[in-house]
Amino acid sequence: MGVETRSWEEVRRHFPITEEAVYLDAAAVGPMPDFLRDSHLRAFEERLGRRAPGEFLESRERARGALARYMAVAPDDIVYLGNTTDAINTVAGSIAWKPGDEVVVHDQDFPSNLIPWIRLRERGVVVRAAQSEHGRLSIEAVERELSERTRLVALSHVFYHSGFRMDLAELGRRLHQRNIYLSVDGIQALGLARPDLEHVDFYMGAIYKGLCGPFGLSILYVDPRAADTLVPEHVGYASLDSDGIPWEGSMPYRTGSQRFQAASVNYPALHALADMMEFLEALTFERVTERILDLSGAAMDGLGRVAGVDIVTPPDRDRRLGIAAFRVGDLPSDVVAAELAGQGIRVAARAGNVRASFHIYNNDEDVARLVGAVADLARGRMA
Ligand SMILES: Cc1ncc(COP(=O)(O)O)c(C=O)c1O
Repeated sequence: MGVETRSWEEVRRHFPITEEAVYLDAAAVGPMPDFLRDSHLRAFEERLGRRAPGEFLESRERARGALARYMAVAPDDIVYLGNTTDAINTVAGSIAWKPGDEVVVHDQDFPSNLIPWIRLRERGVVVRAAQSEHGRLSIEAVERELSERTRLVALSHVFYHSGFRMDLAELGRRLHQRNIYLSVDGIQALGLARPDLEHVDFYMGAIYKGLCGPFGLSILYVDPRAADTLVPEHVGYASLDSDGIPWEGSMPYRTGSQRFQAASVNYPALHALADMMEFLEALTFERVTERILDLSGAAMDGLGRVAGVDIVTPPDRDRRLGIAAFRVGDLPSDVVAAELAGQGIRVAARAGNVRASFHIYNNDEDVARLVGAVADLARGRMA
């Protein structure tokens, strides 16, 4: 792709949004870097017929390879779907539930990671909600909801409202000792930090947040040990091991995770995904994570010193990522977000919190602008 990146300022220059706003809302939608214009143009030209159609497939494998290195899994364990919600439904719909089976969710999770699980009560599944406190969920709170009948725990890697990051390695280790699946909605971490999937069975996320890509494409990782025990809810020409139509006998599902790849996906978006993954990889995934943690940490430090501001996100670097969530006294979060937007600072209001979310295109000046504007608001509030 030819994108050379040496310093964070050079990285920043690839993101045109930085010239217009202090953009602190990648947790909602990640803004595209300029080089994705080429990725999209290339996709368009291919559809005009000027390029070989096979190039989509080349990008599909290029992206899969980079994702596999990012997640430390085999490329074949990853399939492409439409969005995060599709992927959650794919998992929920493909397990052979028995009446009385139990699923544990997180009471404050994003609706897409609750509704597909709650719906399983139509199949006799009992859904229990682990209770979070102040936007944080302890492993013990999850364990309190487990029983002999629990088959799966579903939660988000990073909580969209508080920025809390779950310890997937430890939770997964404890769940696997009890033969319980762990399904993780990773959309709030994808592209920002490499997940530890050793004890995670399902991990999914769309590419329009941390991967700054277009809508309409998501990834689903399925642990191959789990995959072979599942019957895919959606099937098509790509899910079977034989080219023929299985008029008789059992269904020849592909072995492993590829049985969940039923058909075509948003191929044009694969160019963007492959290009973005390689861009992040060239920076090294670890440096990307450290940079994001430094920025969100600096914001939390600065905001924490402002009288009247309460920080919601935990300070520990292992328990947070790009989000710095806070409250300004009893000011409604949407009022704070609107005030900041008026000054060109784009944050979100979520579940009563103001959510500033950082990415590699942000810098110390963005942090200072946020802290300064919030300090002015808080002062005005107290005056
Ligand atoms: C934690 C979480 N899960 C799922 C979604 C929805 O993702 P999608 O539109 O890809 O289904 C969001 C969107 O904000 C989210 O924050």
